[in-house]
Amino acid sequence: MNKWILISLLLFSWIPSRKNDLVQDNAKFADKQMRAMLQQLDGSIDSFPHAIYPDGKLKLVDIYGWTSGFFPGSLWLAYQLNNKDTFLLNHAIEWTNKLEPVKNLTSNHDIGFMMYCSYGNAYRITKKEAYKDILIQSANSLCTRFNPKVGCIKSWDDAYTIGEKVYYQYPVIMDNMMNLELLCFASNVTHNPKYREIAISHADKTLENNIRGDYSSFHVVNYDSITGKPLFKVTHQGYANNSTWARGQAWGIYGFTMMYRETRQERYLNAACKMADYFLDNKNLPTDKIPYWDFNIGQLGYNPPIQYDTLKRSLFQRDVSSAAIVCSALFELYGFTKHQQYYKDAVAILQALSSPAYRNNESKNGFLLKHSVGNFPGGYDIDVPICYADYYFLEALQRYQQYNKKG
Ligand code: GLY
Repeated sequence: MNKWILISLLLFSWIPSRKNDLVQDNAKFADKQMRAMLQQLDGSIDSFPHAIYPDGKLKLVDIYGWTSGFFPGSLWLAYQLNNKDTFLLNHAIEWTNKLEPVKNLTSNHDIGFMMYCSYGNAYRITKKEAYKDILIQSANSLCTRFNPKVGCIKSWDDAYTIGEKVYYQYPVIMDNMMNLELLCFASNVTHNPKYREIAISHADKTLENNIRGDYSSFHVVNYDSITGKPLFKVTHQGYANNSTWARGQAWGIYGFTMMYRETRQERYLNAACKMADYFLDNKNLPTDKIPYWDFNIGQLGYNPPIQYDTLKRSLFQRDVSSAAIVCSALFELYGFTKHQQYYKDAVAILQALSSPAYRNNESKNGFLLKHSVGNFPGGYDIDVPICYADYYFLEALQRYQQYNKKG
């Protein structure tokens, strides 16, 4: 046999096995870490793992914390990745069920994260009607926050800007794009278009007002709820009002890709691609593609609304959670565009996250990834493991595995 054919054959048989190794190794690791996490939790209502405190202690939230759905969601994803292990299944069911009262939450937009990551996965995997009903009720609760004059779901009540502490009349944040999946789901299963119409209106306004001409993003747009016009645009978790917060950009890439899946509107695919290109081609993105928490830290023309004590802590911290969200989104975006670079970048991020630089040491703290930044200006959850990084890492692994199965 010609030596080049032989080399090609060897190479092609090697690539899928490397893919399997990456997925299998991380699946086993997730199983081990989640068992360690479960051992530390006492099963009470305020026991949902959120992050790690600087002293190494586990930081928990109750069912109404915005991150409560990620641990149950991770249990469902780990269950699927580990050949339907019944131990993980039983805990996924138990931890999902605890969240049922959240279906009536109307005081913020986060119900989409909380219920779609938990009950959404539960329904996707089991098709149990009871889960579907809880998701529909959750979508109804989210719709109560929609104001047709603004055309958006209101993200927060009674909140103030960082720095000057100006009252937000009607804040709409990039993160809110993620909650639209719950609405699209509700329309799909009820055949009532009203949920999807709200999602489309919200996505269109986000496109109009949160996204800049170069497809970078403002974190917060504050609207006048009477006229429906934007009043001002600022950051809440990023470096400066005119900067691009890495996770806000990540939520946008994921959110617009998902909205394209749900509506097939080209403007959403275009936004997802351009936002992804901004992220991936950015000169401030480190070569391993794990971003700093903001793309404009310390740059001329970007003035933080608050003072940072740079002697206490360097501003240059990576945010692994943003990388994990983008990684998962890129696998889906590649499916729609067949743009090879998105697939290559997603795999590169997955490999980086799986390396000792970012994967947690096997440890009692039970998280999968380290080095995330939750809220730098707020001064908390900085350079620590965080539950949403783990969730999107597992989802990215699952999406990668599906490509693997398709060959
Ligand atoms: N509010 C969600 C986040 O911190 O990304």
